[in-house]
Amino acid sequence: MAAQPPEQLVDIGAAADIAPGKFVTAKVDGRGYIIARVEDRYYAVEDNCTHEDYPLSYGCLDGGYIKCSLHGSWFSLETGQPQEPPAEEPIATFRLEVRDGRLLLDPARAA
Ligand code: FES
Repeated sequence: MAAQPPEQLVDIGAAADIAPGKFVTAKVDGRGYIIARVEDRYYAVEDNCTHEDYPLSYGCLDGGYIKCSLHGSWFSLETGQPQEPPAEEPIATFRLEVRDGRLLLDPARAA
C-alpha cells in the first residue's frame, strides 16, 4: 500500500452554515472546491467539470449528485463519477471531516 500524504486539514467553516441540499464554494491555495451537504452528510469535490473545465458551482444539486450547467452532465458527490455524457472523466473528491461542528477539508487526500 502506498504511503498516505500527511494530513493537511483546512477549516472551511461551520457545518451548520450549509443547509441540507445546498453547497458553498471554498478556495484553498488557489484551487476551488464545492462543499456540499446532503441530509447530514458532507462532501468535498473540485469545482471544475472535467468535460470542458467549467465551474460546477454554476450548477445545482439533486440528492447526492451535482449537475454541470454548461452541457448537463451529472456527477456523483460520493465517487466523482459522471453519470451521463458528455463528461467521461470523474471529478476529484476530497476527504472532509466534521469535528466539533467545523468542516475540515484535506486537499491532499482523495475521499
Ligand atoms: S462543461 Fe460540464 S458537461 Fe460540458
